[in-house]
Amino acid sequence: MKTLITNIKALLQTEKEEARNKVSGKNMASLPVIEDAFLYIEEGLIKDFGSMKDFASGPLATLAGNPDVEKIDAEGRMVMPAFCDSHTHIVYAGSREIEYIDKIRGLSYEEIAKKGGGILNSAKRLQEASEEELIEQAMGRLEEIKMLGTGAVEIKSGYGLTTESELKMLRVIKKLKELSPLTIKSTFLGAHAVPAEYKKNQEEYVKLVIEEMIPMVAGEGLADYIDVFCDRGFFTQEETDRILMAGVKHGLQPKLHANELDYSGGIQVGVKYNALSVDHLEFTGEEEIKALKASDTMPTLLPGAAFFLELEFPPARKMIDSGLPLAMASDYNPGSSPSGNMQLIMSLGCIKMKMIPEEVIHAVTLNGAYAMGVDEELGSIAHGKKANLIITKPISSYAFLPYAYGSDKVEKVIIEGKIQ
Ligand code: NIG
Ligand code: FE
Repeated sequence: MKTLITNIKALLQTEKEEARNKVSGKNMASLPVIEDAFLYIEEGLIKDFGSMKDFASGPLATLAGNPDVEKIDAEGRMVMPAFCDSHTHIVYAGSREIEYIDKIRGLSYEEIAKKGGGILNSAKRLQEASEEELIEQAMGRLEEIKMLGTGAVEIKSGYGLTTESELKMLRVIKKLKELSPLTIKSTFLGAHAVPAEYKKNQEEYVKLVIEEMIPMVAGEGLADYIDVFCDRGFFTQEETDRILMAGVKHGLQPKLHANELDYSGGIQVGVKYNALSVDHLEFTGEEEIKALKASDTMPTLLPGAAFFLELEFPPARKMIDSGLPLAMASDYNPGSSPSGNMQLIMSLGCIKMKMIPEEVIHAVTLNGAYAMGVDEELGSIAHGKKANLIITKPISSYAFLPYAYGSDKVEKVIIEGKIQ
């Protein structure tokens, strides 16, 4: 299948010959753009792109009259890479509005968790749900985020919390990889919370994760990455260290929940094990920035969760000004961020973390792709990358994307060359 998009008002996040794998520090303030552009897709991949001027005088001009080529006149609209949402928990059963009301009435996330709500509440429901039910619910969420512009998504386990149910979750994610056109990566998060029956013996649960779950998950090839919720009230730095060591031995690269509730040491232990990303990072100080600067780990901020839980936002400005790259993801989950809308995430990046539009666009495209290990195939407009694209509604400038918060600026989504 061949598709030609012409008269693109602005083609965003384009690569020159040498494609970048991520964008850091002050480079995040500039976004490569081709104005009045075309883009040509063949067999689901980006085959060529450039300015309309060059198109008219170049070898591709004949495509315009070729009946085998599907044509889209984008007049007034912009085209950009679809979002890469590198941190979600979209496989879950039911929802948790009841805790939302507790929260409105004044309970904190940790207080709700201590009452047996939170992750343990979702675990109970997930254990009772069948694979079919979980697939059906998750497919609905995938469809929803796709139409909001997401073209790649990472999905975690972590609502199973028994060997059987963790494997069930990961098998569901494996099935989603087959059923959904989106690019999906899966992460094993057995150490998401301590089940009630292990509350007095957390060490037993850590052992179960290390000695039973990790070998089985890796043995069945069910996960691309490993995660731990390394934070106050959940798993300590020392426990995280041992779990990651076991994961790495089984070929699972870490992607961590870190420093959301406290200076947990999560960032440092993530860096120690060469984590692909460390995520949340509300508690990031000088030492954490120093550790990240000496690493290849992508700091990933989840402003939806900080907003929903009313936490202090991570110091994004300070991190970028120190030369770090930043990714942003939705954290779509029933407890701390029941939304997978990456357009809203961009707005929160600008409004609450003082990032400029260019920076947030990098954070949800190429840097997001890096944070989920798909930067070679997605995240920017480059020859040979997958044609996972957004065609915007007519907009005055790309700053309109984060500016008009809460309204959907996506007109069409293209996944591997196909209009959705
Ligand atoms: O990323 N922080 C830990 N885990 C999830 C929340 C999961 C839940 O509350 O169900 C998060 O925010
Ligand atoms: Fe999360």
